[in-house]
Amino acid sequence: MKDTIVLGIETSCDETAASVVVNGRKVLSNIISSQVDLHAEYGGVVPEIASRRHVELILPVIDNALREADVTLEEVDAIAVTYGPGLVGALLVGVSAAKAIAFSLNKPLVRVNHIEGHIAANYIAHPDLEPPYVCLIASGGHSHIVHVVSYTEFRIMGRTRDDAAGEAFDKIARVLGLGYPGGPAIERAAKDGDPKAFNFPRVNFTDAPYDFSFSGLKTAVINTVHQLRQKGEPLPVEDICASFQQAVADVLVDHTVSAAKEIKADTICIAGGVAANSQLRESMSQRALKDNIRVLYPKLILCTDNAAMIASAGFYALESGRTADWKLNAVPSLKIGESG
Ligand code: KG4
Ligand code: ZN
Repeated sequence: MKDTIVLGIETSCDETAASVVVNGRKVLSNIISSQVDLHAEYGGVVPEIASRRHVELILPVIDNALREADVTLEEVDAIAVTYGPGLVGALLVGVSAAKAIAFSLNKPLVRVNHIEGHIAANYIAHPDLEPPYVCLIASGGHSHIVHVVSYTEFRIMGRTRDDAAGEAFDKIARVLGLGYPGGPAIERAAKDGDPKAFNFPRVNFTDAPYDFSFSGLKTAVINTVHQLRQKGEPLPVEDICASFQQAVADVLVDHTVSAAKEIKADTICIAGGVAANSQLRESMSQRALKDNIRVLYPKLILCTDNAAMIASAGFYALESGRTADWKLNAVPSLKIGESG
């Protein structure tokens, strides 16, 4: 069978990314131009700055991806692009570029949900992985437990009621003065800390056992920091980070393993920026082992935002006949499973 070459484009937040992937699994190039430094001084992503930077970077990044893959635009079979969820101005840069390329070459345009893209990162990392399985997606904007029924069918089993897990990492890091993005900074500080030093809350809902809430945890950590500062005591930053990280990992692991057991899944995948967290990976693997469930996650570069995962998800969408027309628009609040 002839190979299918997909050019993936991702601009939903603060990474401008393009990638060439063969048959949804084999990455020929994966170019990511991060704007993190531009936004760091503001402690978070500034949407207007992000959009302007995407405009400057999008064409050079796509050029680089094609050059590194040694593939010409004519050889590309389809153009896959993130159309939501994300920042509207940022998304529009990728969508416009993808439309222009697809239109000028008369090639199929495929729309990809960013969260479904994060899930697909696992197909690149694990060539034998096939649905069904349970996937925990924990990123800066999303925390979901999803039953991946097929490559293009998703059933949400649990979601956050307030903050996303990554958002909590970013906010706590800001309060502690650790900088942006918060996840890697907190993970580094937590390495030398005691995860039992503070007993931060783990929230559960009886009516929706797989749902999350991180805003209470965030407030508890912030209150602890304020109280210690008011008393003029030195801040045990490492202990606070380790205890906070443990509290997040505990609920993510607990709920995901319970969801996997409910549907008798033999595989759990982790996806999204927070999946880069080694404490989460270790806790999940140890806990799932007890129930003979294997835990898979992508390598670090495929956890955070990238376009290889978009090209992979795009390949499966293309296979199921899910192409877009020239009216494709950005959908900032797109939900999982709404692309069908
Ligand atoms: O998936 P992603 O790159 O962008 C979104 O789609 O949101 O995720 C970014 C989030 C940020 O909140 C960042 O702090 C978090 O992922 N993150 C981490 C780690 N690396 C990135 N959180 C915990 N531990 C990490 N090592
Ligand atoms: Zn993301």
